[in-house]
Amino acid sequence: MLYDFSFQNPTRIHFGKSALNKLPQELNEYGPNVLLVYGKASIKKIGLYDQVMDILKACNKNVVELAGINANPRYTQLLEGARLVRDHKIDLILAVGGGSVIDCAKGIACAAYAEGDVWQRYYVNQESVTNQVVPVGSILTMAGTGSEMNSGSVITNEAENLKIGRVYPLALVTPRFSILNPEYTYSVPKYQMVSGIFDVFSHLMEQYFSGNDECTSDYLLEGLMLSLISASRKALIDPKDYEARSNIMWCATMGLNKILAVSKTQDWEVHMIEHQLGAYTDCAHGIGLAIISPAYYRYIFRDGLHKFVRYAKHIWGVEDHGQGDEAIALEGIARLEAFIQELGIPATLREVGATEEMLPLIANSTELGGGYKQLNQDDILIILKTCF
Ligand code: NZQ
Ligand code: ZN
Repeated sequence: MLYDFSFQNPTRIHFGKSALNKLPQELNEYGPNVLLVYGKASIKKIGLYDQVMDILKACNKNVVELAGINANPRYTQLLEGARLVRDHKIDLILAVGGGSVIDCAKGIACAAYAEGDVWQRYYVNQESVTNQVVPVGSILTMAGTGSEMNSGSVITNEAENLKIGRVYPLALVTPRFSILNPEYTYSVPKYQMVSGIFDVFSHLMEQYFSGNDECTSDYLLEGLMLSLISASRKALIDPKDYEARSNIMWCATMGLNKILAVSKTQDWEVHMIEHQLGAYTDCAHGIGLAIISPAYYRYIFRDGLHKFVRYAKHIWGVEDHGQGDEAIALEGIARLEAFIQELGIPATLREVGATEEMLPLIANSTELGGGYKQLNQDDILIILKTCF
């Protein structure tokens, strides 16, 4: 653990089949006005909307609704929510849904009492938030992003063709509480389920593929990768396998609540590229990550060879027969690619709606430099062409 760190995560987690029973005690901590934020249709289909409304009524809350949040939430929706918070003097924003709904709720929380152009200030310029922020709570219905226990808020500005992630200070928008019942995820369509699974896998790899030291975080990350692979295979066979779905959900929450990132520089380049891909194609986040990842890792692996060898051996069981480190590392990446195929995820950008003309525009994404190789836009364009 070579780099100094401070760690605190303020989210209270209620996990399991009876987790919703904890909602009343959480609601008691806030005033009467609640903004209920949710997506298009799923929470009504699975009966969760009625259950939550009954609890809100029993707790004497005045409920204002913001429905229809898009997968890849839009900046216009964030502004609409901010207006509702001001107009109704909202005391708590309750997000019920997947990462998109929770991310939007966090954006609303910061935007409601902000002055000026929130997009420019908080997403493009990443300015500090000094205005009042409204508390957020969440009820998670889809495993993937980790938004239920982190302070990330990824918003798409359609007018500007930009999808930007903001990691707000933890204390501001990380959900005060999150209710995690794996049974809610049974109804997630397979395409979204595998998108979420790969999102988690990518979060783990983005943190893992950095650094040259012997770091406890890497051992924890390997443990989660192994658990996720095992649980995913079971969930593919039986989507209602509670044990599998609960393990996937917890891997997702643990995968991006910062505990695994301590003392790591972390990569996140695949995410930066995917966010730009998403801005142009509106593709499901995890699907985009899965298409980009093998091409990206084949492009950079020589710069972090020791770690890619370790990954091949520890995660995918590649055996050393004296074939050499490069061959071992490449076999690890090939097994990752095979796992992506096993999940049934498309292999090319074309299949998610990217065109050749878009590639240079997508390549215009942020280069972070925390991983093994500092990329420039020419590098990213080569990677994009490889998986086009
Ligand atoms: O709109 P509804 O009807 O709710 O349908 C949603 C949506 O169409 C559906 N769904 C969710 N729960 C369901 C369900 N369908 C049936 N049954 C259920 N129980 O699934 C679809 C996708 O939902 P979404 O919330 O978009 O998925 P996800 O959780 O993958 O969130 C993706 C967004 O999060 C961002 C992504 O970029 C993307 O915008 N990310 C957020 C991060 C963070 N906050 O830290 C980090 C991630 O890396 C990621 O960038
Ligand atoms: Zn992600």
